[in-house]
Amino acid sequence: MKQSLLGLENLTAEQINNILSHASEMKKVVLSDNKKITNLQGKTVVNLFYENSTRTRTSFELAAKYMGANAANITSSGSSVEKGETLIDTAETLNAMGTDILVMRHSMSGAPNVIEPLVDASVINAGDGMHEHPTQALLDMLTMIEHKGHIEGLKVAIIGDVYHSRVVRSNIYGLKKLGAEVTLGGPATLMAKDIDKMGVKTFNNVQEAIIDADVVMALRIQLERQKKGLFPSIREYFKFFGIDESRLKLAKPDAIVMHPGPVNRGVELSSTVIDGDRSVITQQVTSGVAVRMAVMDMLINGGF
Ligand code: CP
Repeated sequence: MKQSLLGLENLTAEQINNILSHASEMKKVVLSDNKKITNLQGKTVVNLFYENSTRTRTSFELAAKYMGANAANITSSGSSVEKGETLIDTAETLNAMGTDILVMRHSMSGAPNVIEPLVDASVINAGDGMHEHPTQALLDMLTMIEHKGHIEGLKVAIIGDVYHSRVVRSNIYGLKKLGAEVTLGGPATLMAKDIDKMGVKTFNNVQEAIIDADVVMALRIQLERQKKGLFPSIREYFKFFGIDESRLKLAKPDAIVMHPGPVNRGVELSSTVIDGDRSVITQQVTSGVAVRMAVMDMLINGGF
């Protein structure tokens, strides 16, 4: 029976650990001079993206190619979506071309869950609305393990636009299952109602959320999803919620700084923090290729 990755909510800690462990092996391939293995030889991966992406789309494409698969990219712009074709018709059309893995990004929460039962291909959620972005959280956890050696017992502070963030939801599911403590900080207007029911502590400031953190993760202010009035201005956001060197001093001295990207420089993080020696943002990108290789390999070849 085919398997899919739609979110981390329904994965067990064991499944997450297995993916992370396989991703660690795949990272050796990504960092090697010969990025070619045959695990997906003869398979076809199609990236169907209805929202913009640099990291996720490119890393899925490279991950597929590094494992010997055929890879194709479809974006809503320039495709028959612009002629009015529905998501379901588009997905079924791509499925009929012999797709083995359909990687989907869509602005509607739950879009991959609608498509998954309708296609033969395994479906991977590459970000659906304000719901989940499972491979982002997996790559974040892989990066944390590389720096801290474990997830259990870590204090992870996640700061910013919690309300619109699929990254935060997948990270909370994954981090809590693996035994981390998660605190959230941000403006009250960008804090999701009832998110504390996910077992996290919430603060309407950065300072309390960040104290003694092992990991400080800033979330992107999603300018494309903002309604007016959630915060006065970008400049004011940085003044009260941006992470600069002085706020970072509240975290542990060896705390790492993460961001899923793309970063709004000088908004979520100061440039000195982005480019500083505690920033692991570029390593997150590399982990992204490894995690996507691991997920696709396990979905097709077993072990998921
Ligand atoms: N983090 C992330 O999803 O980045 P992209 O939008 O560039 O894929």
